[in-house]
Amino acid sequence: EESRKIVLTEDASLPKAVKAKIINLEPLRDKRVRLSGWVHRLRDQQDIMFIVLRDGTGYLQAILTGNANKTYDALTLEREASVELTGTIKVVPEGQKAPGGHELVVDYWRVLGRAPGAEEAFSNRLNEQSDPSIQADLRHLVMRGETSSSVLRLRAALLTAFRATLATLNCLEVTPPCLVQTQVEGGATLFKLDYYGQPAYLTQSSQLYLETCLASLGDVFSVQESFRAENSHTRRHLSEYTHLEIEVAFVKFEELMDHIETIICETVDKLLADTSASALIKSLNPSFTAPIRPFTRMSYVSAIAWLNEHSILHPAEDAEGNVIKDDDGNVKMVKHQVGDDIAEAAERQMTDIIGRPVFLYGFPAEIKAFYMTKLPRVEGQPEGVHYTESCDLLMPGVGEIVGGSMRIPDMDELIAAYKREGIDPTPYYWYTDQRKYGTCEHGGYGLGVERFLAWMANRYTVRECSLFPRWPNRATP
Ligand code: 4AD
Repeated sequence: EESRKIVLTEDASLPKAVKAKIINLEPLRDKRVRLSGWVHRLRDQQDIMFIVLRDGTGYLQAILTGNANKTYDALTLEREASVELTGTIKVVPEGQKAPGGHELVVDYWRVLGRAPGAEEAFSNRLNEQSDPSIQADLRHLVMRGETSSSVLRLRAALLTAFRATLATLNCLEVTPPCLVQTQVEGGATLFKLDYYGQPAYLTQSSQLYLETCLASLGDVFSVQESFRAENSHTRRHLSEYTHLEIEVAFVKFEELMDHIETIICETVDKLLADTSASALIKSLNPSFTAPIRPFTRMSYVSAIAWLNEHSILHPAEDAEGNVIKDDDGNVKMVKHQVGDDIAEAAERQMTDIIGRPVFLYGFPAEIKAFYMTKLPRVEGQPEGVHYTESCDLLMPGVGEIVGGSMRIPDMDELIAAYKREGIDPTPYYWYTDQRKYGTCEHGGYGLGVERFLAWMANRYTVRECSLFPRWPNRATP
C-alpha cells in the first residue's frame, strides 16, 4: 500500500489540455482534455482503475494506470466523489464497448470533493427493496442515478417540445400568478394561506387568468405549478404538480378536442424525431409508440354503459361518502350509474382494456366545475339532468392526463353558476368582466406534466416524474 502513496504532478511537457464536457468529445479524439464530474462507477483492479465519470451531459469511461493509480486519492476514492480528470481521448479497442465509443486515458487527475462512499450514501440505506420513504428522503441522491436522471432529462425535452408545438399554433406563453384569491376546481382542495391579513390560496389552475389573456394576446398557454390539497395517496396525485394549460378563443367543443389531440401527437412526434429524446424514451419505455389518431371519443353516458358491460364495479358509498363494507369486512362493490364520478380504479381498468387514448366527454354538471358550458339537450335526457362540454383524455397505464372544457361565455349564465355553487362573485369581478367586454366562445384544457411523463416513460407513479415530489405530509427534501 505504501507504493500507492505517490504524489502525482502534471507533466508540463504534455500538450495543453482543453476544458471539455462529455457530450462534446467526439471531435476531441486523440487530443488532451480536462473534464470535471462525479465518479458514477468505480472498478479497481490491481494495476488499473476504471472510473465512469458523469458530468450531467453524459458518461465517460476513464482509465487510470501507472502513477495515476498509485496515489492516496486513488486508494481512497469512492463513488460520488467529484474529480477533475486530464488525459487523452482514445477510441476503444475493437470489440470493446464504452459510452460514446471512446475513453479517457488519464495522465493527471485530482479529487475536488470527497464522498463518504457508496456504502454510506446508497447501499446501506437504499436499494430496490428499501422503504419508499427512505427513497423519498434520499431523492437528492437518488436523482444522481441513471433512471431518475433520464426521466428528468425527458421531462425537460418534453417541455421544450410542447413549447415548440404551441408556437406553431400561435399560442403565446404567459406566467400567471401562484398566489390567488379565487378558486377554480372547488374549495375542498385549496391550500389556504394568510396574505397580509387577507385570505389567499395557492393556485389550483391558471385557467381563469389565461381566459383574461385571450382578448389581449390571443391564444395563450402557461406552464405553472398547481397545488391541490387532496388527501390522495395514489400513483397519480401530487400536492404540487406542473400544469400545462392552454386557452383558445373562437372554437367549438369538437375543435377543442382536435386541439388537444394535435398538441399531444405533434409533441410526441417531435420527441421521437429528436435523437437524444428518442434514446431516452427507448431506454425508459422500449415498447413506446406514437398514439394512433384519431383518438376514440366516448360520451360519459356511454362510458357508464361500457363499464357495466365489462362488469367493472366500484365501491358502494353511504351518504357521507364512506365505503360500505359487508359483515366480513369486504368492500361492497356495485354497478356504475349515470351521475357517478368515474373513479381512478375503474378509469384505469377501462384504459387498460381499450389500450389506446380515449376522450371521455359530456360529464354531468354536478360533478364538474362551475364555469363549464352545457351540451345541447338530447332526446330522452331527463329533466334536471345537465351534461357539460367537458372532456378528459385518458391514457393507457395512467388514466386521465388532460382535463378541459368550454367556458360559459354569457354573463348572466356565469353569475347563475356562481350562485349555484355558492361562490361569492365579488373576487371574480375581473373574470366576469371578460363576459362584459366582448365575450367570445372559448375553451381550454390542463395537462398534468408528471402524468404525461409517467405515460411516456412508463413510470409506476407520478412521484418519479417530479424533481422533488410533494404529497400529503411530504414537502422534504
Ligand atoms: O382536471 P383538472 O382539475 O382541470 C383543471 O384544473 C382545469 N382548470 C384545467 C384547464 O381547463 N385549464 O386538472 C387538469 C389536469 C388533470 O387532467 C391531471 O392531468 C392534472 O391536471 N392533475 C394532477 N396531476 C397530479 N396531481 C394532482 N393532484 C392533479 N390534479 C390534476
